Amino acid sequence: MNNLAAVILAAGKGTRMKSQRAKVLHEIAGLPLLAYPVQAAKTLGCDKVCVVVGHQGEAIQQAFRGQDIDFAWQREQLGTGHALLCAAESLAGFRGDLLLLCGDVPLLSSTSLESLLAVHRREKAAVTVLTARLEDPGSYGRIIRQGELVRRIVEAKDAKAAELAVCEINTGTYVFDADFVFSVLPALSCNNAQGEYYLTDVVEAAVKAGRKVCACCLDDANEALGINDRVQLAAATSLMRQRINQQLMLNGVSLLDPETTYVDVGVEIGSDSLLYPGVIIRGKTRIGQHCVIESGVQIDQSQIADYVQVKKGSVVEASIIGPGCKIGPMAHLRTGTELLGDNKIGNFVETKKARLDQHSQASHLTYIGDAEVGKNVNFGCGTITCNYDGVNKHKTIIEDDVFIGSDTQFIAPVKIGRNSLIGAGSTITNDVPPDALALSRTPQKTIDGWRLKHPLKKKE
Ligand code: UD1
Ligand code: CA
Repeated sequence: MNNLAAVILAAGKGTRMKSQRAKVLHEIAGLPLLAYPVQAAKTLGCDKVCVVVGHQGEAIQQAFRGQDIDFAWQREQLGTGHALLCAAESLAGFRGDLLLLCGDVPLLSSTSLESLLAVHRREKAAVTVLTARLEDPGSYGRIIRQGELVRRIVEAKDAKAAELAVCEINTGTYVFDADFVFSVLPALSCNNAQGEYYLTDVVEAAVKAGRKVCACCLDDANEALGINDRVQLAAATSLMRQRINQQLMLNGVSLLDPETTYVDVGVEIGSDSLLYPGVIIRGKTRIGQHCVIESGVQIDQSQIADYVQVKKGSVVEASIIGPGCKIGPMAHLRTGTELLGDNKIGNFVETKKARLDQHSQASHLTYIGDAEVGKNVNFGCGTITCNYDGVNKHKTIIEDDVFIGSDTQFIAPVKIGRNSLIGAGSTITNDVPPDALALSRTPQKTIDGWRLKHPLKKKE
């Protein structure tokens, strides 16, 4: 037990986002905003994490189901002070340090939160607030000090000119003595510009009660960025991208242009891999070492081994790519593609639920869906597995060392035995045994002099 619990506020309407979606479900680098404070609280070792929800609370609960989180409801959004009070029941019996985070402040590092907690514990404070110094403090609450001592926090909307000039702002992040904060919350007033119960008023209440209030100022003010509108969402996304890309580069990954490389949080990339500009890598994706990912490639939820090359404009979704594969340009690997190694999937080739054993290749203009393919199979240009009969999907099985001539259609379900050869232009409807030649072309008809007897246009 760490005697540490976290409450994360996420009940607000998020009006300034102008969105149908709850604010904290908007994403940064592949994760909803709320996932960041939740993760930070867990990293800090909080025994309990309670999220206060209200506006679109069901959607938020749904998005975070299965994670070890308590939800408290704030049915009416009466302000941040009222929101914390709504978590009282969930924390009944808890004694110790209460970390309060806002669901819309995603960039705080756990190192900064550790410093905040350390100050609070060292000073035996009742309230310790995390602050930042901003050149343009905008709409953030201002930290009002008397000498070194923090006296009050005043919201921008309630501030006098002299207070507005203060550059030290409230990040909306605090550590409270849990007993103390829950004892003063019910007495807060809503006599202010917004008619809300402000959590920030707890500071003044502590000063009045003769309890210690401390502040801990962030080294990097960017961490304080709160997301209230889409301009701030884009700014935070860009800062997160810089962090992720910097870490990738420090881990040995080359980025030709970090400004235009979009990698989700949690993606793993091995050293000596190279990313071209305009690459997007999303979700739970792992890329090995010595890979080259060219411009305009998008990779989602996929596992890519070492020495893989993904050329320009290719899309890879929920696929597994073995070592040494060459993909694209302009290839589309859809869900359930599995390449075991040294495969080539060339331009304008689409694969779906297809497993190709080593060294099999489809270099051009081919569709391979619902297929099981052995080793060293060569797909000629324009091969199609006809997997769908309008009702059901059927499987094509192609064994090792099959050579498929160009412009072949496999009418599934169908099985081609090992080392067979399919003649170009064939429509294969029946199984083919091993070592056979199968072709279904109608014999060619050639009529001599046809063009002379049937001229396109009469000659004058
Ligand atoms: C708040 C602080 C401000 C600080 C800023 C930092 C107050 C009064 N002000 O202002 O000093 O500089 O954060 O980003 O606390 N929420 C609820 N229920 C409510 C109201 C809000 O759960 O009734 C949640 C929101 O969903 C949000 C968080 O509390 O996650 C902050 O609320 P918001 O309205 O964004 O406060 P700010 O105006 O940003
Ligand atoms: Ca806010």
